[in-house]
Amino acid sequence: MKFHTVEVEGVEALGRYVLLRYPWSGAIEPGQFTMARAAGYPTTFDPFLARPFSFYDHDGETASLLFEVRGRGTQLLAGAKETIEVSRPLGKGFRVGEENGRSLLLGGGVGVAPFKFLSRRLDELGVEHDVVLGFVDEGVAGVAEDFPRAKVATMDGSLGVRGTVLDAVGDLSEYSAIYACGPNAMLAAVKKAANGIELCQLSVEERMGCGNGSCNGCVVPTKARGLVRSCIEGPVFDAEVLAW
Ligand SMILES: Cc1cc2nc3c(=O)[nH]c(=O)nc-3n(C[C@H](O)[C@H](O)[C@H](O)COP(=O)(O)OP(=O)(O)OC[C@H]3O[C@@H](n4cnc5c(N)ncnc54)[C@H](O)[C@@H]3O)c2cc1C
Ligand code: FES
Repeated sequence: MKFHTVEVEGVEALGRYVLLRYPWSGAIEPGQFTMARAAGYPTTFDPFLARPFSFYDHDGETASLLFEVRGRGTQLLAGAKETIEVSRPLGKGFRVGEENGRSLLLGGGVGVAPFKFLSRRLDELGVEHDVVLGFVDEGVAGVAEDFPRAKVATMDGSLGVRGTVLDAVGDLSEYSAIYACGPNAMLAAVKKAANGIELCQLSVEERMGCGNGSCNGCVVPTKARGLVRSCIEGPVFDAEVLAW
């Protein structure tokens, strides 16, 4: 995997998440991801592997990532001051332009990340849509302020609707397309609830070692083809393809 050293244009807190911006003028599709690390070999082996992150936004010149600090990789990225290393945009993003009516974007936890960019793309295409973001509690939901028209759900009811993103949505049947990103349990529930809706695309967040198809660490079960690598064939899949 080729890494590009890019300048850090800014790192700021967005609620309890971190927003990191860097220059990137190449094309990026909503739902694609990058493998990123604060620094790599030969400067350091700490950590050895870069980490996958969805693109939060891209205006043609600047790309941004939104992440939660979980362990060593995100801790170092959050503290990056001058440069970081990123791969080119990877994977298959959301297919847009096939909607046949109103669309619904459902993000859970850090799975809200791809929806800033996707929502802007749908606006550009004139596709009417609603955004619903789900969080554990109000503390992590601070990022929702960056999505002015989003409806919010929290599991403990401390902000917005109590419960999951699905509890915050009225009638799913009014939508022609659903886009969702979050933990597998959430995606499986969305898939079940979306049964019968024309277009349902799910972005999975499997652990990734390499991001380029060489380690088989990111496989997901599919109905027709067994296990497939989500870094190459995803991370966005049509819901009916997945075997869960
Ligand atoms: C395609 C894709 C897109 C992603 N986009 C984002 C994003 O936009 N923002 C964001 O914050 N995170 C995103 N993630 C998850 C992110 O990659 C991990 O949080 C990150 O790798 C953690 O690295 P770390 O070194 O800080 O933590 P580690 O030290 O590697 O792990 C710390 C803890 O986090 C858990 N963890 C690590 N990776 C994952 C994962 N993929 N799913 C669930 N738990 C995990 C570990 O089990 C451990 O408990 C994405 C993952 C994928 C596969
Ligand atoms: S992350 Fe290595 S094969 Fe997908």
